[in-house]
Amino acid sequence: MLNFDFQNPTKLMFGQGRIADIAGEIPKDARVLITYGGGSVKKNGVLDQVKTALAGYHLTEFAGIEPNPLYETLLKAVDIVKSEKIDFLLALGGGSVIDGTKFIACASCYQGDPWEIIFSRGTRINGALPLGVVLTLPAAGSESNHRAVVTRKSMNAKISFYSTEIFPRFAVLDPTITYSLPPAQISNGVVDAYMHVLEQYMTYPVNAKVQERFSEGLLLTLLEEGPKALADPLNYEVRSNIMLCATLALNGFIGSGVPNDWATHMVGHELTALYGIDHACTLAVLMPGMLKVQKEDKRLRLLQYAERIWGLKDGDEDAVIDAAIDKTRQFFETMQLKTRLSDYGLTAENIPEILEHLKKHDMVRLGERKNVTPEVVRKVLELSLQ
Ligand code: NZQ
Ligand code: ZN
Repeated sequence: MLNFDFQNPTKLMFGQGRIADIAGEIPKDARVLITYGGGSVKKNGVLDQVKTALAGYHLTEFAGIEPNPLYETLLKAVDIVKSEKIDFLLALGGGSVIDGTKFIACASCYQGDPWEIIFSRGTRINGALPLGVVLTLPAAGSESNHRAVVTRKSMNAKISFYSTEIFPRFAVLDPTITYSLPPAQISNGVVDAYMHVLEQYMTYPVNAKVQERFSEGLLLTLLEEGPKALADPLNYEVRSNIMLCATLALNGFIGSGVPNDWATHMVGHELTALYGIDHACTLAVLMPGMLKVQKEDKRLRLLQYAERIWGLKDGDEDAVIDAAIDKTRQFFETMQLKTRLSDYGLTAENIPEILEHLKKHDMVRLGERKNVTPEVVRKVLELSLQ
């Protein structure tokens, strides 16, 4: 096992009705900015529940944080923070609203050009407003981690940054809030969480048995429960298990003490920035090619994955690995996601542009061995077309 530090300060408040408890987590004299997206929280009653829980507080609202939150939009919220003297942020949403609010938290305390926060990947952050979360979409894991991803439309750039300053203080995980998700977002969430586990598991063994088996437990749970959430959307137990999986998949634990990959995510961000493909959909498209191209580097772990997740172990090693990759693709398709770039109208002619953007964003040595260069990504993209 590799050396590591693990500290996750986010308080998880799990279960039905827990929004009622948030007042205990926010100072009574706080001036709170409630942030949300396009309005799902109005339709499903989450905003009303929050206002009831925070009766008597000084509340201001900022609506309209879009999926893949835009830098340009978030700066408007920073202006409100300053003019209204806001000192606590409360995000109601999925990864986009939470990530966007993390940026607002940092930019509100930053003296220079706020783009530097993102472009320096968080290293220049010099403080952040405290932030709480009511999670509405289990997927990104942003509710209890120190990452955020923001898009600057004018540059077609989608960039992640990191800081321990942006761990939310608390996150409400009420599975009933996810009942209103459209099927496409249920699918996105399950596949994104599955891919978060793979990015931290599908590398090379360092004898980290706890992290490996924890990861395998999350994968098996997502495989079992994902299709059930589509078939039986009001099933509380199913929604609970998916919600906890998504949070634990990216709260930092399973990636501690082990090599991390993240190449699929970095290439996926370029596909979202350039072509507007949903985050999880980019991952479903790239995963089979990424694993095939790195079969030798990942061989030992691919064989472990094939055996422990899919029960495949007899016969030719290469055939076993190929079957495990095919089964994973089939799972994503069962979750109703497409698994080929051509399904989104992309062709070989798009590849140079994608590679160009990776180079521009310094994404030229990806993966756990830092050997996923643009030339390797070219092969992945070629396979992802088929
Ligand atoms: O905007 P509203 O009206 O709220 O609708 C949203 C949005 O259209 C809707 N939705 C959310 N909860 C709902 C709901 N609709 C009905 N009922 C509910 N309960 O779902 C749509 C998508 O929301 P979004 O937040 O964009 O989805 P997701 O949670 O998948 O987040 C994606 C973003 O997270 C980033 C992605 O790159 C992307 O920008 N990620 C963040 C990470 C992190 N911070 O650690 C890691 C991830 O790998 C990922 O990169
Ligand atoms: Zn993701």
